[in-house]
Amino acid sequence: MTAQPIIIDTDPGQDDAVAILLALACPDALEVLGLTCVAGNVPLDLTTRNARIACELAGRADLPVFAGCERPLRGELLTAEHVHGETGLDGPYLPEPEMPLQPGHAVEFIIETVRSRPEETVTLVALGPLTNIATAFETAPEIAAKLRGIVVMGGTQHVAGNATPSAEFNMHVDPHAADIVMRAGVPLTLVPLDVTHRALVTPPRNAALRAIGTPVGRAVADLTGFIERYDPDRFGEAGAPLHDPCVIGWLVRPDLFRSSRVNLTVETDDDETLGMTVMDWPGAQGRAPNATVLNEIEAEGFFDLLIERLARL
Ligand code: BDR
Ligand code: CA
Repeated sequence: MTAQPIIIDTDPGQDDAVAILLALACPDALEVLGLTCVAGNVPLDLTTRNARIACELAGRADLPVFAGCERPLRGELLTAEHVHGETGLDGPYLPEPEMPLQPGHAVEFIIETVRSRPEETVTLVALGPLTNIATAFETAPEIAAKLRGIVVMGGTQHVAGNATPSAEFNMHVDPHAADIVMRAGVPLTLVPLDVTHRALVTPPRNAALRAIGTPVGRAVADLTGFIERYDPDRFGEAGAPLHDPCVIGWLVRPDLFRSSRVNLTVETDDDETLGMTVMDWPGAQGRAPNATVLNEIEAEGFFDLLIERLARL
């Protein structure tokens, strides 16, 4: 298998950090070209810090990490310290990063990388609000046609929203950016809450992560243990959903998931439902499908993959 070149756009966040670790543990399947950080779970100065902490934990201080957009395309930034803690990476003790941030803006890196690589080879992996990626598409519209695709963690259909009753966090923080990305004509895969809320870090799974017995295994157990205190209380579920790693799981082992082609839009106007994703599964609106939306995950297989791969770091 040739490793698929990806750029990870991210707002770490414990689950983003686990996704970065999983991606870096799969060099046979994924070639991580760089990390582009965006404001989301916490402000940009912390997402850039946290992304570098994850790289160093994986032993990849060589990776280029860029700072991107500090706020959504419109309005003020909404953050989620109530979920992720003040640093965004609360839980384990992890040293401050020593590797530098790259000079230049994340959006420039995305544009230049897509331009300089062979056509239809690079995939964008979006784990946070879509501000950086929408800005890249607005600045250099021609890159849309050069991408292999984009995989986005975000949205929800049947599961309650986690930012508002109807909206998932990444979509709610920057719905206008999400709208631009959905209209860009890039092959788009969406990994919504309907899937990630089946990838729950239950106590036995947390124990299995810790039992890896390495610094990475202990850190991931502490990271997922920290977010455990939020979602289960709220949703009455057996553990914390591991949102962003599902995106990497899909890229590495698509056989663990099921999906449908649907027409996908996002609400950008109504205050009450801002960021709500509308997925037309039955094709009731008669519009052409513009997205592949995941709707099932084989959770045991996904956690087997996660544990087996993290053990390699
Ligand atoms: C998404 O929002 C963030 O809190 C997580 O990192 C994930 O990307 C889940 O709604
Ligand atoms: Ca995220």
